[in-house]
Order: sequence, then structure tokens, then C-alpha cells
Amino acid sequence: MSQNVVEIADLYYKYPDGTPALNGINLTIKEGESIAIVGHNGAGKSTMLKHLNGILIGHGKIHIAGLPLNKKNLRTIRNYVGMVFQNPDDQLFCPTVYDDVAFGLINMEMEEQEIRKRVKKTLEHVGLQGFEKRAAHHLSFGQKKRVALATILSMLPKLLVFDEPTSNLDPRNEKAFLDLVKSLPSTKIIVSHDLPILFQLCERFIVISGGKIVEDTTRDNFIVNKKLIKEHGLDYEFKCAYCEHFHNSPT
Ligand SMILES: Nc1ncnc2c1ncn2[C@@H]1O[C@H](COP(=O)(O)OP(=O)(O)OP(=O)(O)O)[C@@H](O)[C@H]1O
Ligand SMILES: [Mg+2]
Repeated sequence: MSQNVVEIADLYYKYPDGTPALNGINLTIKEGESIAIVGHNGAGKSTMLKHLNGILIGHGKIHIAGLPLNKKNLRTIRNYVGMVFQNPDDQLFCPTVYDDVAFGLINMEMEEQEIRKRVKKTLEHVGLQGFEKRAAHHLSFGQKKRVALATILSMLPKLLVFDEPTSNLDPRNEKAFLDLVKSLPSTKIIVSHDLPILFQLCERFIVISGGKIVEDTTRDNFIVNKKLIKEHGLDYEFKCAYCEHFHNSPT
């Protein structure tokens, strides 16, 4: 039987200014699952993700790979959970792209030669070969998103957590992201508003609203539930209409 990678029980969180963001989250994720987390802006998605590796600490119980999330286990859990943030500026803080991607590997006490190889290979994976000496803060937003992705992928985490991974990527890089993520064996949690991407990557769909899980269902049930999709501001039919027009117009 596969292991529970994430167990969240009765999780509540209020930001220091008093804003309630999580209002009783209960969630179990098994090893190897690919989970989509959807919901309107401000629903609590990013806040929930930030609890998975102790960036935020709310009231409730969290276990990662069977370990209670507490001070003692924090280092082990942070090696296990690779989190790609919504905003790449929150993830990149070194003078060069190389240093940013190598940072986690140095912390894992990997040998320098192996680090060089791993950084090179990961930058190739995200389409940024040769970017080692560039300063991340001088790159475009989409390029920064890909460096941020590389900082996490390089560590080969067992649980990969992505917060809006394809926002600001051009379609070619979106496709590259899709292919890359499909090829990874990790358990995956992906927060996104991009349903076509999620439909290709995830088998289970969780809808958050007002800091609570209001639906937890299979991809097949979610896709056909147009009412639910509309209710949570995820309707993308207007985009499809234009795509059809584009594909059907003479070249
Ligand atoms: N640093 C903060 N201080 C106070 N309130 C915050 C803070 N960050 C988020 N919030 C509030 O917490 C709630 C949940 O926000 P969160 O960022 O988790 O939403 P989200 O579902 O990720 O939205 P989005 O789709 O826009 O990324 C919102 O009401 C938001 O305004
Ligand atoms: Mg968010």
C-alpha cells in the first residue's frame, strides 16, 4: 500500500493582521499522486502550500512522509518537499543563476563536481543552458520563473509543490514545463488557474474556497462539472473559442 506523503488535519491559519486564510483544512495525499489545487484569487491556496514545509505555522496537525512537522524534523522535511513559489523573486537571492541553482545542493553537502553537472543538466531541462553566470535579478520574469524551477528540480525532491508554475511562461515554455513535469516520478501538487495544463498533469482535483476544501474529486468528474468550474472562476471557454477560430482560419 502506498505511503501517505501529506496528512493535514484541522489546519487553521490567520495572518498576523488578523486575516483568516485557512479555516479547517483536512487532506491526505498518497505517494505518486498528482494533485491539482484550484480556487479563486484569495481562496487560501498559497497559504496552504506554505504550511507543507513550515514556512507558515498554523493550528492543526501536519505529517509529511509520516513525520510530524515540527522543529526537529524541519530540515528533513525541507529536503523532502521541493516548493516552487508563485513569485520567483521569493526564491532567488544569489548573485548568479549558478549560485541560486547550486544553493540547495551545497546545503545537501554534495561534491562540487557533481553540483556542476547537476546545475548544468537542470538548466538544460528548463531551457536555460549557458545562463550560469547571469544575474537572476536581471532576467525577464518568465526566465526567473524557470531559474526558480531549476533551484528546486536540481534537488530531485520526492514531493514537488508548484504554485502557479506556468504563469508568465510563453506557450513554448509552458509545453516544455508540461513535458518536464510529466517525466518526473515525484508526488506532485500543482496550484494553478490553467485548467488545460492541470488536466494533462493531474488525476485528482481539489477546490479551495474561503480557506476550506469544498470539493475533492477525480479529473474526470471535475472536467464535466461545468457548474463547479464556473462557480470558482475557472471557466476558460472564452479562450477555447479564440483557439478554435485561430486553428480553423486559413494559413
Ligand atoms: N501576508 C499576508 N497578510 C495578510 N493577509 C494575507 C497575506 N497573504 C495573503 N493574505 C490573505 O489570505 C487569504 C488567502 O490568500 P492566498 O495568498 O493564500 O490566496 P490564493 O488562493 O493563493 O490566491 P491567488 O490565486 O491570488 O494566488 C486572502 O484573503 C489574502 O488576502
Ligand atoms: Mg496564490
